[in-house]
Amino acid sequence: MKVLLSQEQIQARIAELGKEISRDFAGTEPHLVGVLKGAYAFLGDLARQIDLPITMDFIAVSSYGAATKSSGEVRLTKDLDQGLEGRHLIVVEDIVDTGLTLNYLVNVLNARGPRTLKVATLLSKPSRRLVDVPVDYVGFSIDDHFVVGYGMDFNEKYRNMPDIKIYGGE
Ligand code: IMP
Ligand code: MG
Repeated sequence: MKVLLSQEQIQARIAELGKEISRDFAGTEPHLVGVLKGAYAFLGDLARQIDLPITMDFIAVSSYGAATKSSGEVRLTKDLDQGLEGRHLIVVEDIVDTGLTLNYLVNVLNARGPRTLKVATLLSKPSRRLVDVPVDYVGFSIDDHFVVGYGMDFNEKYRNMPDIKIYGGE
């Protein structure tokens, strides 16, 4: 499989994002919410590049079948452990594709009363977007490829690859 983003490129970009977030959230304690399972690697590395007292929590979602795909309705398979009232929330995603999952999540999380809500995603595929969901921190915008590695899977495999590769080939 062809490497799209090497581990060096990924780590360098995450260091930049961490600095940006540290500046933007100076004086606060941002609460990072990672979307399992894909965002586990990004959240782990990003959190270590943020020079602020952060807290973190995780949520897991699974999309319903193809029939409801256009509604973007997703099922929470693991909810947060902690409430969001008054927090400075940063939702951490691996990749925003159509935007349906993130749009749903942002609505669900906003209803829980965070003081602010921002979104950080490692990857974005803007050409695939079906709903206009604001993303505040983007690692890389990529073309319409199916990618694996660095948390992202195909049938649950490849999440542990340190590079991001275009799925397919040998
Ligand atoms: P969306 O609802 O279409 O934006 O899809 C978002 C979710 O689909 C992401 O959080 C990923 O879990 C998954 N996904 C989208 N594109 C890819 C990809 O290229 N590789 C692996 N997973 C992907
Ligand atoms: Mg995801």
